[in-house]
Amino acid sequence: MGLEFAFIGGIMSKLQPSAQSSASSDSTSPQLWWQKGIIYQIYPRSFADSNEDGVGDLNGIIRHLDYLQWLGVDALWLSPVYPSPMADFGYDISNYTDIDPLFGTLADFDKLVKEARARNLHLVMDFVPNHTSDQHPWFKESRSSRDSPRRDWYLWKDAKPDGSPPNNWLSMFGGSAWEWDEKTGQYYYHGFLKEQPDLNWRNPEVVKAMSDVLRFWLERGVDGFRVDVLWHIIKDDQWRDNPPNPSFDPATEPNYNSLEPVYSTDRPEVHEITMELRRVIESYGPDKFVIGEVYLPLEKLMAYYGPKADGAHMPYNFLLALIDWQSSTIMQAVGQYEALLPEGAWPNWVLGNHDKPRIASRIKPHQVRGAQLLLLTLRGTPTMYYGDELGMHDEAIAPTQVQDPFEKREPGKGNGRDPERTPMRWNQEPGAGFTSSETPWLPIGDNIEVNVASEKDDPDSILNMVQQLIAIRRKYPVLQSGSYDALPASPPVIAFTRTLQSESLHIVINLGDSVTLYPMGRVQAKCIFSTDSARDLDLVLMNELALAPGEGVILTIEGEPAD
Ligand code: BGC
Repeated sequence: MGLEFAFIGGIMSKLQPSAQSSASSDSTSPQLWWQKGIIYQIYPRSFADSNEDGVGDLNGIIRHLDYLQWLGVDALWLSPVYPSPMADFGYDISNYTDIDPLFGTLADFDKLVKEARARNLHLVMDFVPNHTSDQHPWFKESRSSRDSPRRDWYLWKDAKPDGSPPNNWLSMFGGSAWEWDEKTGQYYYHGFLKEQPDLNWRNPEVVKAMSDVLRFWLERGVDGFRVDVLWHIIKDDQWRDNPPNPSFDPATEPNYNSLEPVYSTDRPEVHEITMELRRVIESYGPDKFVIGEVYLPLEKLMAYYGPKADGAHMPYNFLLALIDWQSSTIMQAVGQYEALLPEGAWPNWVLGNHDKPRIASRIKPHQVRGAQLLLLTLRGTPTMYYGDELGMHDEAIAPTQVQDPFEKREPGKGNGRDPERTPMRWNQEPGAGFTSSETPWLPIGDNIEVNVASEKDDPDSILNMVQQLIAIRRKYPVLQSGSYDALPASPPVIAFTRTLQSESLHIVINLGDSVTLYPMGRVQAKCIFSTDSARDLDLVLMNELALAPGEGVILTIEGEPAD
């Protein structure tokens, strides 16, 4: 199941949508590049290995920029490439202003920025402000003595009189979130691994140091940041115990879910910090932007846009990565999300990432193309996860191959994230064109016909379909900025329109595994795109649209036929 985080069961709002249509003001407001564009997430360890060590690197990414330009995406988000002991594969950072030698050098990074820019590709960095590595010099200094000038940069607390931790808070990766430090006789807090101590964001020196980190990368030409675990950044100032979660199922859920993390996460002060991060980022230009990683129910998620739309430009919306793939559930989720978006908030959509099972493994094979159509036609910025454009699946990881610390700490519960992190497939050779090393850091896996070279040669491949769909999204501004309206539809069909001034497109997707008729009324319609290459794209008179199993289409309605 990947990282579940808390609240996943309740991620959808308890409120019913009052409206199924988006604010029309959004459709006329000018759009910034990141609103019109598509973000492509690269997990650098797994994208392309240029130096034969079995791990991807920056030069590997540079080699494949032409592919990303051909695909038609607008921005690359790189999961962390900073120096790290790799206890959590880069999310444990020991130096925020350098590149880990495993991935290359700062010079390689500068080359990446330049080469990406030459292809009109923007660069988004992962920013990990909640915690550092325990090997970061700040933490080493902090733990050196109670009198260290950096003691208060981290969260140190005395033991309870009986020697136990200061409260009951749990690490997301299992066990207590408190680690005893023998030398200085206090506990420190770590929301993740003990090798990832949490920073103290109530200390203004920490805020300044981390703002300087943002400046360092902005000066090097970065266009935005994805802020890791934004909702964890600040904790309860009274350190109260978290209450038990009455619906916890120990057989299937990570131990972390046994408590409701109401005091350790999502504290009201987080919004002031988010606004401050945004101020720093926007001081480098109005088109620089900040995405927040936030796994919370919708009403709470919306608060991360900030009280005056001055918080995160986009708190990530993980609905499609988490919900059951049923047409009614999806329609309801989209409607709720649209209805709850505050004034001035820009929507976004995600099918998967390096913490969640791949979309092609979550849903039925005949639904995979329709999922891409949905991602790329809903209102808002889509983020694609590398390899999903090929239809890559989660790969089986044998117990001896496990790398992910989450799986190692709580084995067998399906928490492991290695299956969705396996190497990108560039061709059908033994290392899949990812590496010429005989030992890639994670196995290449099965179904090796799923790869860029083979799919580029096949006009019916999902890769060519996604590339054409992106080209259509670019050609039709209505798909970038039009409003969203749900259309009446019964299971297994999803149907909605996107409208910009007088232009309107209908998107209809059949999630079923048999032919399904969708009533259109007496109209002349032209199909401008289908996930099924067998469809005839001519102008047709239709009362009912017959959709093949899994088929999704984009239609323009040319009006009623003359009698
Ligand atoms: C990242 C994870 C990481 C965790 C701790 C996240 O949400 O996406 O991959 O393990 O933060 O940094």
